[in-house]
Amino acid sequence: MRAGPHDIGPPHDVGAPPDALPEDRRVLARGFGHGKVILLGEHAVVYDQPALAAGLSLGVWADVTDGTGHLTAPDWRLHGRAGDATPLGQALSAILRRLDVADVDVRIGGELPARSGLGSSAAIAMAVARAVAQARGRDPEAALAAATDAEVIFHGTPSGIDLAAAASGQIGLFQRGAGWRPVAVPQSMTLCVGLSGLQRDTHAQVGAVARLRQRTPQVESILVALGEVALGGKRAVEQGDVDELGRLFDVAHGLLAALRVSSLELDTLVHHARAAGAVGAKLTGAGGGGAVIALAPGHERDVLSRWAAAGFTGFLARIGSTRQDAGPLEQGASK
Ligand code: PMV
Repeated sequence: MRAGPHDIGPPHDVGAPPDALPEDRRVLARGFGHGKVILLGEHAVVYDQPALAAGLSLGVWADVTDGTGHLTAPDWRLHGRAGDATPLGQALSAILRRLDVADVDVRIGGELPARSGLGSSAAIAMAVARAVAQARGRDPEAALAAATDAEVIFHGTPSGIDLAAAASGQIGLFQRGAGWRPVAVPQSMTLCVGLSGLQRDTHAQVGAVARLRQRTPQVESILVALGEVALGGKRAVEQGDVDELGRLFDVAHGLLAALRVSSLELDTLVHHARAAGAVGAKLTGAGGGGAVIALAPGHERDVLSRWAAAGFTGFLARIGSTRQDAGPLEQGASK
């Protein structure tokens, strides 16, 4: 899984990537930003309902060296420079401005698939801001503010859920106004993540739901129900009740389909997961394209195999655990 985080735009050529970034330059600090999945409550969270999200142990790392404001992602063939017109360059400018730093270069990498609703842009913003802050002795609050500035450049008006999950890596309940509240988890869970292969467009999906809600007032009760399902999911997580969480995934997928944010590919992935033994499956994030998640205790490999047989890529992610104890779990299931 080596897709670049094209949330931040196509590969850019803004001049030769610097010989100015020799591999052997001393790394002053490394920052990490987690990817995320929304477990329950996407779209409803836009209308002030609670949403349940989890940081992934997969994410983005950033190494900082002395330098002159370059940002490179060699694996993704991306390069930006503070002050240039690329999203990457502008995001770096925003971070450096907020942290009052000018004399660094940043190299980033990671394994989050692109435009899948897995929070790659927030993970980049968090990793870079953390690394620069650490290298130059700025505090974590300043790093979060800097990451927020960068995420606004990537996404316009982010709800904040991605950054909160990118920072925490844990499971949390997010609500506008209240922000991120960590959820206590008795045991970590293994999540199957299936990629539709279609990029999702958050802006378009959020806009379509807004229009549907305006035209059809009954849609409001679906959004309220999604919020209630998210609260039920929080209780299930706290009790370590994977079966109940799975059932709530199924309910949420039905409600999201009623909002018309599912697609043939997402429905297909969900049905394959259930047929392979999942206790529940749903789309995650804005929908249209992007990813689905499934809970399938004891049948995780069956789900990945079934998705692979149908031509979809998937991987396993542990949620509700620290990066250290999640290490070797993520594995792609190639076609
Ligand atoms: O961008 P995604 O795929 O992670 O989805 C965002 C979740 C929404 O609820 C649809 C929008 C939002 O701002 O919370």
